[in-house]
Amino acid sequence: MSAEINVTLVPGDGIGPEVTHEAVLILEAISQWIGSSFQFVEMPIGGTAIRQQGSPLPPATLEAALNSDAVLLGAVGGNEFNSLPPDKRPEAGLLQLRQALGGFANLRPSVAYAPLSNNSPLRPEVTEGADILFVRELLGGLYFGTPRSWNRETGVALNTMQYSREEVIRVARIAFELAQKRRHKLTSVDKANVLEVSQLWRATVTEIAAEYPDVTLEHQYVDACAMHLMNTPRNFDVVLTENLFGDILSDEAAVITGSLGMLPSATIGGKVNLYEPVHGSAPDIAGTGKANPLGAILTGAMLLRHSAGMEQEAQAIESAVQRVLAAGYRTADLARTNQPDQQIVSTVEMGKHVFEVLNEIIDCSQAMHAV
Ligand code: IPM
Ligand code: MN
Repeated sequence: MSAEINVTLVPGDGIGPEVTHEAVLILEAISQWIGSSFQFVEMPIGGTAIRQQGSPLPPATLEAALNSDAVLLGAVGGNEFNSLPPDKRPEAGLLQLRQALGGFANLRPSVAYAPLSNNSPLRPEVTEGADILFVRELLGGLYFGTPRSWNRETGVALNTMQYSREEVIRVARIAFELAQKRRHKLTSVDKANVLEVSQLWRATVTEIAAEYPDVTLEHQYVDACAMHLMNTPRNFDVVLTENLFGDILSDEAAVITGSLGMLPSATIGGKVNLYEPVHGSAPDIAGTGKANPLGAILTGAMLLRHSAGMEQEAQAIESAVQRVLAAGYRTADLARTNQPDQQIVSTVEMGKHVFEVLNEIIDCSQAMHAV
């Protein structure tokens, strides 16, 4: 593998720049290993772009993103923009970017790491071994449906939840294919007891299931699913759902892992894949060294897996993260008062520990090849 991989880096707001910085260092360590290089071009998005250029997604950022092999994003959003209308906020920049890149399947893994078993408010015997992959539809539903409005005179606001059969089919296929590579189970989540959109969703997913006889399909209502995720997380393999339900359930699933700061995501299926940790910009801790870079670092692993075909290298990063956790290193979000063996570290220190362990893994693999 010698090709150059061009990545548009959009660190964004709050803790975004701090966590993406650590992810970049890890990807650079990988590039030394494989002899190919990552070319990072950094561009503004979100609140940072509003401040610099008056727009949450400047045209040059969009152009760079569209011309790259992958886009790596930190986070967007900040309190000073809270009173702006939705289409002027930092979040609008991210939504426009998602739409332009065209990725409709947002993969959000949620894993119970053994060293963090006491971090979850759920009992360890409940979370042990849980390994869920959410496939969140990312370009439809209430986020993008029109008409949308807030009429201040009448005091009425409106959003539209709309899906077409085609939109459901394309994301369902990705979910079924992923289930085939995992434990062959797919849970499709909807609200078909109330919403026509969900009835279409359920009928379409059921129809597509016939093409994947080796995958067991079950349907759950979103309210029940929210409860089952906490009661019996091990019963889930791949969870397929629409945009807003997926937004909510993937944050809830962070409880299984122990911290939202741990969760990565990848958005695939469009022109250019988009990689972003699930956590937000956390303005309250920005610049304090408290941010957890592991979500962003694991997002880097997903980039290797889904945009560079580097499964072994992706796994090397994931192993390095697990070992660092096993060694007791914890950022503030992971620290617990009753854990005497933990070592509380800053964002940068956490990144360094992963970097060191990753280099050990790389050295070890090179030594094996030399024999
Ligand atoms: C996420 C975020 C975004 C979303 C926001 C920042 C627009 O919450 O990626 O989950 O709602 O999709
Ligand atoms: Mn969210």
